[in-house]
Parts: sequence; C-alpha cells; structure tokens
Amino acid sequence: MTKQWQKPGPDMRKDTILSHAGRAPERFDGAVNVPVIRASTILFPDVESHESGDRFTSVRYGRHGTSTRFALEETLAQLEGAARVCAVGSGVAAIVASLLAFTRSGDHILVADNVYGPTRNFCQGRLKLNGVETEFYDPHIGAGIERLLRANTRLVYCESPGSLTFEMQDIPAIAAAAHARGIPVLADNTWATPYFFRPFEKGIDISIHSATKYIVGHADVILGTIGASAEHWRTIRQTVADYGYTASPDDCYLALRGLRTLAPRLKQHMQSALTVARWLQGRPEVARVLYPALETDPGYALWKRDLSGAASLFGVELRPVADAAVRALLNSLRYFGHGASWGGFESLITYPKPERLRSATAWSSGPLLRLHIGLEDPADLMADLAAGFKVLHDHT
Ligand SMILES: Cc1ncc(COP(=O)(O)O)c(C=O)c1O
Repeated sequence: MTKQWQKPGPDMRKDTILSHAGRAPERFDGAVNVPVIRASTILFPDVESHESGDRFTSVRYGRHGTSTRFALEETLAQLEGAARVCAVGSGVAAIVASLLAFTRSGDHILVADNVYGPTRNFCQGRLKLNGVETEFYDPHIGAGIERLLRANTRLVYCESPGSLTFEMQDIPAIAAAAHARGIPVLADNTWATPYFFRPFEKGIDISIHSATKYIVGHADVILGTIGASAEHWRTIRQTVADYGYTASPDDCYLALRGLRTLAPRLKQHMQSALTVARWLQGRPEVARVLYPALETDPGYALWKRDLSGAASLFGVELRPVADAAVRALLNSLRYFGHGASWGGFESLITYPKPERLRSATAWSSGPLLRLHIGLEDPADLMADLAAGFKVLHDHT
C-alpha cells in the first residue's frame, strides 16, 4: 500500500502545518523537503502542453517559480490563512510590489507614521514621482481613520507594531472603516510573524513579510513574501511579473527550511525577550521598555486581543544620559551585535532615531535602543547588559 502524505486540511494545527505543508516526497525521490530546483527553461513534451497551463500556479518558467518556491508559498499561505502567497527577492521588494499593485497617478494613500524607513522613503520618493499622494496617519488612529478617507484613497498601509517605536494599531477597526469604502488594507506583518498573527481574519487583505527575519531565521538570506486574499491575489501576482521580480530557488529552499523550525524558535525568542525586557524594566537606567507583550505597555490590550505571541524585538528608552555614554555602553557589549536586521538566532542592538522619520506625529524620548533577543541564554544577555550599564555609569 502506498503511504498517503498528509496534505494540510482545515483540521491541521499550525505547528503541524509547519511540519507537513508544502511537501511532496512522492515527486522527489522520497525527500522530505522539496529540493532546490534551479531552472530558467522548463521543457514540455509538446507544443500543446507548452501553450497550456497557468504560469502563476504551475511550473512554466523559472522567473515565475519552480517547485521549490511553490512549496514555500504553499506552506506560508496555509500557515497565515492567505489564498495565495508570492515570494520575491526581499522584504522591500514585497512592500514596493504591493504598493505599486494598487496605485496610479492621482491616487491618495494612507500610511502609518511609524512604518519602516524604506517604506516611507518609497512613498515620498518614487510613488510621489508616479503622482501618488501619501498621507501619514497617527498609528493610534483606529476607527478615526474614517475621517481621512477620500474619494481617491486607494489603500491603507499599516505596520503593527512599528519596528522602531512599537505602537500597536487597531487593525480590525481600521479595516472596518476602509472596507466600508471598498479600500484594501495592506500590512507589514514582519514583527507579528505568520505564526503569531492571522492577518486575514483581522481584516487585512495583503500581508507582507520580510522573510529575511524570523522565517529564514539564520541571518543568511534576503527574501520577501506577499500573502493575498483571493480577491487581490492576481493583482499582486501580475504586478510582480510585470516588474520582473523573482526569488531564487536556493533562498526559497532556505526559507522553507527555516519555516520548519519557526514555532520552537519563536517560542524561545519570545520567552527570552520577556525575561530580558522584564529585567530591564527593573533597572534604574531605564525609563521604559517598549514591548506590547508587557502588561504595562500601552499596546498590550490590542496585542493580547489580536496576536498569539510576540517577536523578540523591542525598544528600551534610557533615562537622559550623554550620547557618548550610550555609545560606550553599546561598544562594550559582548553578545549583542551591531548591525541591521533582526529575527536571526543571534542578539543585536541598534541606536535608532525615530524622531527623524516622523511627519504626522511627533516622537520624543530619551536615548532609544532597539534590542533583538536571539537564542543565547538570557542570563548571559542580562549579564552582558549589566556590565554595559556599569560602563554607562563610568562615562557619566
Ligand atoms: C519591518 C520591516 N519590514 C521590511 C523590512 C525589509 O526587509 P528586507 O531587508 O528583507 O528587504 C525590514 C528590514 O529590516 C523590516 O524591519
């Protein structure tokens, strides 16, 4: 008797989806994961079969994906509840393709004031040149977004929480107001992750991820994904094809490999982040910790209602202290790397200046640090930070 491989169904829980979705051992020598299939040309047995079929849902040409990429897309779609997912070469490519898919000259779009910097730059740069007007809105606006909707508003773009300042947004309230006018809601869900958030159940129509972060999880691949509802998937897929965006099979393979262990990694990341964040809250050098998973955070109620867990990225506002002392602290750390990105197995620390990125709302705080808590032992991380605080004092 031939073994029937478990295809995900509605009864499959998300940890099981992560193990079983996107597999086809019967087609690939029994290999558990779909292997890397590199191809530009795909050969067909005759001209008729070459002429038939859908280039977006079946393997037709390398730029549109081989079985490796389709396996990743299928697994993510199943996990996140998207009708379909499309992988592209970076998180920024996913953002850009999504914005381009819905906008044309004369349109107005609403974008949260706490969005990722390159998203803001794209709106204020290229989209403006295309004749699209971007209005940034207060991330706390909730149902009040209704007042900003115009006859030519084409989309609302959210990021909850923002990846520098960590405000949660009331996504269902924003989506209800936008949908009442037939306007789609796009969201960068990189922090929320496809594991801790079911965007399509909360009213999001397009879910964007920098897969570079937790999905890949090992700080060695740049990749983006766009999940879409059935209504909007063809618009997204066509735009990705029109601009020639693609994703390498090797990178898709590594992302799918990363997805297989996403659940235990994220659970550990979250537990360690909570441990370090709570410890930081008790430090005299710290004014506040910006992390929606903390009961004291202003975004806690929305986080608790809408997400089932938290990424391990959060902000730490220090009490007023000289810039040189902060830099001395940062440079003294042993385990926290200085570098862009997050979501890998290793801890990182940055010194962002979000006030420079705002236009609709003011941001002011003491020195702000952004920590990504990796998979090291949190006791080592806290000892490292404690030693760093000693250095801070030595410089004040
Ligand atoms: C919230 C967020 N969205 C998107 C991106 C862009 O992702 P990528 O670096 O894969 O282009 C990043 C990268 O840091 C990010 O932090």
